[in-house]
Amino acid sequence: DAQKPIASMPGCFQLGLSRIGEECKKIEDLGIPAVILFGIPEQKDEQGTQAYHEHGVIPRAIAAIKKACSTLVVITDICLCEYTSHGHCGMLEGTTILNDETVELLAREAVTHANAGCDMVAPSDMMDGRVGIIREELDSAGFIYTPIMAYSVKYSSGYYGPFRDAAESAPAFGDRRSHQMDPPNAREAMRQAEIDLDAGADILMVKPGLAYLDILHRLRERWDVPLAVYNVSGEYSMVKAAARNGWIDEKRVVLENMTAFKRAGADMILTYHALDVARWLREQTAL
Ligand code: PBG
Ligand code: ZN
Repeated sequence: DAQKPIASMPGCFQLGLSRIGEECKKIEDLGIPAVILFGIPEQKDEQGTQAYHEHGVIPRAIAAIKKACSTLVVITDICLCEYTSHGHCGMLEGTTILNDETVELLAREAVTHANAGCDMVAPSDMMDGRVGIIREELDSAGFIYTPIMAYSVKYSSGYYGPFRDAAESAPAFGDRRSHQMDPPNAREAMRQAEIDLDAGADILMVKPGLAYLDILHRLRERWDVPLAVYNVSGEYSMVKAAARNGWIDEKRVVLENMTAFKRAGADMILTYHALDVARWLREQTAL
């Protein structure tokens, strides 16, 4: 039943399963087309078993949303870091992530979510080869029409700090530099995008957004596939903090950021400002 505020993300909450249907109905009624789910399990362990448990928090959340909503698209985040006791995105041997073993677990997670009725999966782990294996496993389980929104271009970023409070998923040691991308490297983004498209990605995502608009634009110039941008937690928190201090006009700055994402080439925007933006846009069109 929880509705627990996230201190570093004012206006955002960890929501209990009994609340999620009502919240999503509100989102659907505002005309927001989709939500993406991040689960916090009751128990975390070394293998992140709750990530691919058929009665885990995400399958139960999907059921609650599907009961409350009729058109809302339900996307699930595919990674292990919210479910592992050590907070890493995969299975460890010592301090190293086992890439291929992890990919198998991610594919199991994706199939588990598809079985529970999600409409799309979004792997955020950045393991090598995961898009292809997830596609194969979804197909063999009969989910040939479940699209993959790949976090293809995900930089190793300081902007994820508040999210890790929200998901209680900060790594217990080390960082995510072994698998997330190196901020000064733009060409790797193009290579990874190509690899993921070949492997069957339906939508490519760039993340974070504001500091990587050049990357988003490069992808837009090169490919005519749907592009998503993730306006991440730290970007949200910066705007909120400045607005609370009266240093910036929140509505104006948020809409300016959204416009920048569209201008750079995004077809879709994942943002914690979504409810506010939907309300503001409705007010404008009502004028
Ligand atoms: C999980 C995941 C993260 C985010 C989305 N999925 C965190 C991370 O990679 O540490 C970040 C989202 C945000 O900051 O808003 N791998
Ligand atoms: Zn992760």
